This record gives sequence, C-alpha cells and structure tokens, in this order.
Amino acid sequence: MPDEAETLTIQVNDKEAITALVYAADKKNHAGITVVLGHGAGANQLSGFMRMFAKDLSSRGLDVMTFNFIYMEQGRSVPDQKPKLEACFRAVIETALKHKKLKKNALVIGGKSIKRGEKLILMMGAANRDPQTFSEPDSARVPRDEGRDLVFGAGRHVCLGMNLAKIESRVTLAHFLGLPTLERDGPPTFRSAVRLSPAESCGAEEAPHQLKRP
Ligand code: HEM
Repeated sequence: MPDEAETLTIQVNDKEAITALVYAADKKNHAGITVVLGHGAGANQLSGFMRMFAKDLSSRGLDVMTFNFIYMEQGRSVPDQKPKLEACFRAVIETALKHKKLKKNALVIGGKSIKRGEKLILMMGAANRDPQTFSEPDSARVPRDEGRDLVFGAGRHVCLGMNLAKIESRVTLAHFLGLPTLERDGPPTFRSAVRLSPAESCGAEEAPHQLKRP
C-alpha cells in the first residue's frame, strides 16, 4: 500500500465494500480540486500506472482519489454489471464530497466540474439532441431507436403521467394524421379449461378487433 496515500474503506451496498486511496495535493500549489480516477479492466488502483498518475497529479496541486470497483476488490476478472459499477462511482463521489480534507474542493469527473455554489441547469431537450447519441439530431425521424431519450425524464423523478401522455399522444396523432385505430369488434372468448394460475385465467382465447379510420 503506498504510504503517501490515505486508505479509505467505502461501503457500496449492504454486503460489499471497496478500498479507495486519497493522494493529498501538494500544499504549496493546492488547486482546490479533487480528481476521481477509476481503473481500467486489466489492473486495479495499485497498478504502477495508476499510482504514478495519481502521485504526479497530486504533486501538481490536485487532490486525487482512486478506488477499486467491486469485482477488482474481490479479485474477480469479469467486470460488474452497469448498476454495480454506477453504485460504486456514486459511493466514491459521496465519500469525496464528505471527506474532511476534500469537502471544500471542486470535484472533477470526466474533465467537467461544478464549483461549490455554482448554479446547474438541466437541459433535457439538449440531451435528446446529443449528437454523440443520436445521428442527425436535429431532423425529425420516426422511429428512432438509437438511444434512450429523456422526453419524460429518467430515474427518481421520471414523469408520473408518462403512460397517460403516451396514450393521449397516440390518439391525437392518429386523429390528425388519419392513422387507423384498433377497436374492439365483438366480445372476447376465454378458455374454459382448468385454470392453472391467476395470470392464465386472465388470458382470452379470441379478442376480435378491427382497424378503423378516424
Ligand atoms: C407529452 C407530455 C409530457 C411530457 C413531455 C412530460 C415530461 C416530463 C418530464 C421531462 C418530467 C421530469 C422532470 C424532472 O426530472 O424534474 C416530468 C415529470 C412529471 N410529470 Fe410529466 N410530462 C408529460 C405529461 C404529463 C402528464 C399528462 C402528467 C399527469 C397526468 C404528468 C405528470 C408529471 C409529474 C407529476 C411529474 C413529476 C414527477 C416527480 O418529480 O417525481 N406529466 N414530466
């Protein structure tokens, strides 16, 4: 373990913890910036390259935090699934934000930083036109299956009315574009055989429908 770095143990979830290292910035040219460095698939945070890189940055005035992903920490070679990798990043960032020596710093991730007190504006519309995700982002093309759009937001605050809005849009567009709609054309018939499960008992054998022009 490098003696120039402080070793931290970070709990990622109920069962798994990882090790992180903090390389304190050189005091003479302290920049007030924390850089978080994740390792590649082949070697962990103790690899010669990671240690040299972290040390060099810290000698140039940056506080540096490196960490092991869970799979590396546990000595496995196959990387974790995306949610676990992300959870690991989140736990490390949380720790960096609270660490007594780093908490006043700006945090740099992927070369971008937000200084303490700076305002942040979320540009959902811009995300939907991200040229790195969508080809010809400014042309209206239906369907577009290239990436995940953020029309209804994402995560914890995803639009609660998303399904209603989708139905309303479908009905409205069908009306204005003259697209056919699917309408029921007679009663459904259900299986009379023994029902094995509640899910199966809901299944119709036939459900006649007709395409109708609006
Ligand atoms: C095409 C129509 C709609 C669009 C494009 C849309 C878009 C959005 C977006 C982007 C957000 C997330 C905002 C954020 O992250 O802060 C949101 C949140 C929300 N939307 Fe919609 N919305 C639509 C229709 C509706 C409808 C019809 C309802 C209710 C019937 C609704 C109820 C909500 C609510 C309650 C939230 C807040 C959810 C939360 O913060 O937990 N939306 N919507």
